[in-house]
Amino acid sequence: MKNRKLSLLGGIALTAVAVSADVNLRPRSNAPLCSNSASTFSLSDPPYENYFYSDCNVAAQVVVTSPLSSSDLSTIGPRLIVAWPAGDSGACAFFAPQNGINGTLGIGIVNSTVGSPLATTYNASFAGDYPSVGVQGVISFNSSAILSLPILGSIRTIRDFVEGASILYPEIQDAVKYTSNSDESASLHRLWLDNVTTTSIHFSPWNNGTGSNTSVTVSNGTLAFEAGEYLFTAEMNYPQLSQLNSSVVLNSQSTNLTETMPGQTIALAFLSYSEKLLAGAWRFLTYFGRDSMISALLLEPVLSSGNGRAMEAVIGAVLERVNRSDGSVCHEETIGDYATWTNLQDNITSNAMVCDYAMIDSDYYLPVLMQRYFLENPVGQKRVSAFFNTSAGSINAANQNLTWGQLALINAERIMRLTTPFAQNQTKDNLIHLKEGQIVGQWRDSEFGIGGGRIPFDVNTALAPAALRSIAALSKKGIYKNRQNWTDLAEHYAQIWEDSTLPFFEVTIPQSKAKSLVKSYKNASSFTGPDQSSTIDTNVKFYSLSLDGYNNLSRVEVMNTDDCFRHFLLNTTNDAQLSTFLNSTATNIRRDFPAGLMTDVGMLIANPAFGENPVYAQNWTTGAYHGTVVWSWQLAMMAKGLELQMERCEVSVNFSTSRTSSRIFGEGMGGRKGMDKEIQVVPAFCTDSSIFDNVKAAYNALWDSIEENSDQLSTEMWSWVYQNGTFQVTQLVDLPAPPGVGGQTESDIRQLWSLAFLAVARNKDYK
Ligand SMILES: *[C@@H]1O[C@H](CO)[C@@H](O)[C@H](O)[C@H]1NC(C)=O
Ligand SMILES: *[C@@H]1O[C@H](CO)[C@@H](O)[C@H](O)[C@H]1NC(C)=O
Ligand SMILES: *[C@@H]1O[C@H](CO)[C@@H](O)[C@H](O)[C@H]1NC(C)=O
Ligand SMILES: *[C@@H]1O[C@H](CO)[C@@H](O)[C@H](O)[C@H]1NC(C)=O
Ligand SMILES: *[C@@H]1O[C@H](CO)[C@@H](O)[C@H](O)[C@H]1NC(C)=O
Ligand SMILES: *[C@@H]1O[C@H](CO)[C@@H](O)[C@H](O)[C@H]1NC(C)=O
Ligand SMILES: *[C@@H]1O[C@H](CO)[C@@H](O)[C@H](O)[C@H]1NC(C)=O
Ligand SMILES: *[C@@H]1O[C@H](CO)[C@@H](O)[C@H](O)[C@H]1NC(C)=O
Ligand SMILES: *[C@@H]1O[C@H](CO)[C@@H](O)[C@H](O)[C@H]1NC(C)=O
Ligand SMILES: *[C@@H]1O[C@H](CO)[C@@H](O)[C@H](O)[C@H]1NC(C)=O
Ligand SMILES: *[C@@H]1O[C@H](CO)[C@@H](O)[C@H](O)[C@H]1NC(C)=O
Ligand SMILES: *[C@@H]1O[C@H](CO)[C@@H](O)[C@H](O)[C@H]1NC(C)=O
Repeated sequence: MKNRKLSLLGGIALTAVAVSADVNLRPRSNAPLCSNSASTFSLSDPPYENYFYSDCNVAAQVVVTSPLSSSDLSTIGPRLIVAWPAGDSGACAFFAPQNGINGTLGIGIVNSTVGSPLATTYNASFAGDYPSVGVQGVISFNSSAILSLPILGSIRTIRDFVEGASILYPEIQDAVKYTSNSDESASLHRLWLDNVTTTSIHFSPWNNGTGSNTSVTVSNGTLAFEAGEYLFTAEMNYPQLSQLNSSVVLNSQSTNLTETMPGQTIALAFLSYSEKLLAGAWRFLTYFGRDSMISALLLEPVLSSGNGRAMEAVIGAVLERVNRSDGSVCHEETIGDYATWTNLQDNITSNAMVCDYAMIDSDYYLPVLMQRYFLENPVGQKRVSAFFNTSAGSINAANQNLTWGQLALINAERIMRLTTPFAQNQTKDNLIHLKEGQIVGQWRDSEFGIGGGRIPFDVNTALAPAALRSIAALSKKGIYKNRQNWTDLAEHYAQIWEDSTLPFFEVTIPQSKAKSLVKSYKNASSFTGPDQSSTIDTNVKFYSLSLDGYNNLSRVEVMNTDDCFRHFLLNTTNDAQLSTFLNSTATNIRRDFPAGLMTDVGMLIANPAFGENPVYAQNWTTGAYHGTVVWSWQLAMMAKGLELQMERCEVSVNFSTSRTSSRIFGEGMGGRKGMDKEIQVVPAFCTDSSIFDNVKAAYNALWDSIEENSDQLSTEMWSWVYQNGTFQVTQLVDLPAPPGVGGQTESDIRQLWSLAFLAVARNKDYK
């Protein structure tokens, strides 16, 4: 692609420093000495400035937003967020200029004698069983300000307000108390619905510690600040998680990543705890089943193994939260203040966690990950009995009296049950559908993600067969108690699911029609770049995102990247099908948008240009969360998936002792039936250079674009604008949401699965 330039927009500057914990920085006494050093880093992504702090007492992220001259003031205002993984809790304060003129207030956190810029705070003598812990630093206001809105308690409560509908709950808002103190400071605090935990933010005039010149007062029912600097302290008395620091989260072969990829390892450590791995910062600082399992699958080569380490943190957290009545995997946990609030909506007085079981894809990742760890990882192999005998219920009380092994079995029973009808009769009705009443169910879980489709591509063509292969392998090793008899049945089902699902989703558009469709897309969308119709030199082939979508679309004909699941998770054996499928993936990656998926900012996850109905161009936009945008982990999974498929062309023959690896091209009579797993026949595409070379070219085009966008890779996702002849990185929040979607989504600065490039690297053998 020509004119590829690294965009300056949205560039992220990283500083990562490990400072040793200095007790002198702590203004309050009684803090136990942290045996390990504090870890801090900051990430600048204007208008957002992110600061991370963790030590043995607390982990917190602080995000300060200060509008830029280019910011849309209807969505971006001065805001301070402190987010804690513990309890998925947070404190948020919106500020407004006292003069009332929009855009005139700028805020920021500054280095000071307190910290650079943050320090820990620890207060043992607080009500309740836990010390009050948090962070403090100095915040500056360039003009007089009021605190226009506080939200104290849960990150979920903050998200309900900032993501779209501006929802506030009176029972939470009315409990915020303001106090002004005799030392000229002022604070706000709120007792949670649990009647035990308190979140507070305290402000006192700073001015380099002299306290002169500025003042904060409680006025007209809120806090009013004169221009200047204030020491802020945000804290709460809720139990903290046990962090896995950089040296513990990685396995011993990978510790040098702390030097070669310091930014990614420090972010990984911030998101990793022995109880669970967190999905992202700041919006998803808690358990998400899909995110943590996809991350573990991609990162397994570098993650630590063993009791309480990263791999087991992921698998254990998933099993602990499995729905004991039907085997569904929990998508998102609701904990802390939002759990109490959610229970109250059901007239239940309880702080117990609540699990969301709306997603259908998460169920299938679990056996795949279990196979990867307990059968293929030497440490995992030794951990089978201790791990599966672990009693559930310490975190999720609903699973008391069960073991993790029993919950794993209940999950596998669900998968066997749901995959049986299609294994018996390959009809569309027997494919796996979203749950009743849900409009989302897999990773594209936003309003237009899979276009309202009931039958998603990824779950049916990749996740279900992969899970069945893993169930076969796990039951053969006796992991599922008394279910050895699943081995053959699950293999048999898997073969049918692998071979018979793709045709339901296949879309072929004749070359001339495809050319006219991209031309009409350019008119129907606001895209100002070239339509790329001249690059369409064959019929266009891709696989629908889903079946039975909105607007009576029987197939949701959006070109997409979900092919990566099959490439990454399965070694399919139907040669004709594999050749066609792999070749279409490669061609669509190589072609530039809108003829294909490639752009200067990376491979887009969706391209609606080939849908004839105008709703496609309207709904899959640059402003849609799962629209014509780039997701980092999809780049990683596609790159790894293509590599794994090409590796199949390098036959390894193991005649019981000697292992020789050579490039022997077989006859293309693929099939694993009756064959030792070690002796695999190479797939037919390996000997068809029109396909193999196409795949290799796509692999390299993808890696070139990954390398050119390295500044973005650790973020959740990004979008673009087309300017001066190139696609330029733009944050989603700066673009309008698609029609009917309430508000815009703020992308996470760091997302667990976006750290996959710690383990996924370019294979130079295919250059
Ligand atoms: C600031 O401007 C935005 C955008 O015009 C508007 O939505 C918002 O209400 C304004 N706020 C105030 C306090 O005037
Ligand atoms: C604050 O201190 C950190 C760590 O020493 C440093 O990297 C950063 O540049 C400083 N920021 C400012 C605005 O001086
Ligand atoms: C908290 O206290 C209130 C008032 O006494 C009570 O109604 C409520 O049930 C308590 N909540 C919990 C979770 O115990
Ligand atoms: C605080 O001290 C620093 C360095 O001594 C100085 O640059 C800064 O202007 C001072 N700020 C205030 C508000 O006095
Ligand atoms: C006090 O707040 C109310 C409502 O927010 C506002 O209408 C009023 O102008 C404020 N008064 C002062 C003196 O700021
Ligand atoms: C990191 O360590 C691994 C395992 O010891 C080694 O294979 C790799 O070459 C090292 N990488 C670098 C950049 O030193
Ligand atoms: C909770 O109780 C209220 C008042 O009794 C009732 O109106 C409401 O329907 C109940 N909600 C649920 C979910 O049961
Ligand atoms: C676990 O067993 C105990 C004792 O029989 C019982 O009281 C409790 O309700 C059970 N918990 C669940 C979640 O079934
Ligand atoms: C498969 O399902 C179709 C459609 O429901 C039905 O017509 C057919 O008889 C079924 N075939 C078998 C073998 O059950
Ligand atoms: C497999 O074994 C289980 C438990 O022993 C038994 O309930 C089930 O009927 C058997 N299934 C088949 C297909 O043989
Ligand atoms: C598929 O084949 C590749 C290359 O031989 C291998 O690395 C990978 O583990 C296989 N995947 C599965 C799911 O069997
Ligand atoms: C594979 O795709 C390439 C590029 O689109 C095309 O030239 C070639 O004919 C295709 N090969 C087969 C076997 O379809």
